[in-house]
Amino acid sequence: MNMKNKFILDACCGCRMMWNNKNHPNALYIDIRKEEKGFIKERPLLEVNPDIIADFTKLPEEIRRHKFKLIVWDVPHFRSRKLTGIMLKKFGGLNPETWQSDLKKGFKELWSVLDEYGVLLFKFSDYHIKFNEVLKIIPEQPLFFNKMSSGGKTDTKWFCFMKIPKEKGK
Ligand SMILES: C[S@@+](CC[C@H](N)C(=O)[O-])C[C@H]1O[C@@H](n2cnc3c(N)ncnc32)[C@H](O)[C@@H]1O
Repeated sequence: MNMKNKFILDACCGCRMMWNNKNHPNALYIDIRKEEKGFIKERPLLEVNPDIIADFTKLPEEIRRHKFKLIVWDVPHFRSRKLTGIMLKKFGGLNPETWQSDLKKGFKELWSVLDEYGVLLFKFSDYHIKFNEVLKIIPEQPLFFNKMSSGGKTDTKWFCFMKIPKEKGK
């Protein structure tokens, strides 16, 4: 993989549904799995086709050697080991036993490949896990997040982190 112009990392690309340009030339798309078109019968065009199959809890060397200006981290929101049903197939699942240590390791790995002054956007939905539970695991404080609520039973939030060099903070 030619990493020269890759300064954006999508650490959980899935089906890239949120992207306007699903093949942005400056983005490196990774996911822990690859799924061929048709893996969801009801959505035959969807596929999971990362540039590199990689686990955010243990990034491969070719990614570790690189620094990114922007990292988007849209982790699964459901605690489930089995990927059955459209939602779980599309969005994956968090391991019910290890999700806390997985997210802790994941944040650490991603923070280590984030450039100085780089931004990490963490997206999370509180289907199974409350926001304060997940934020407890993350060792940095988000600068801000969207405070608007959908008003429904569950909510999705984007948390914005910036890697500000230690000497610039108070
Ligand atoms: C919520 S979905 C991402 C949806 C995506 N942002 C989109 O626009 O379609 C979460 C994705 O994280 C992937 N994932 C789960 N654990 C992972 C891990 N340890 N490392 C990398 N990707 C992982 C899942 O396979 C799933 O595709």
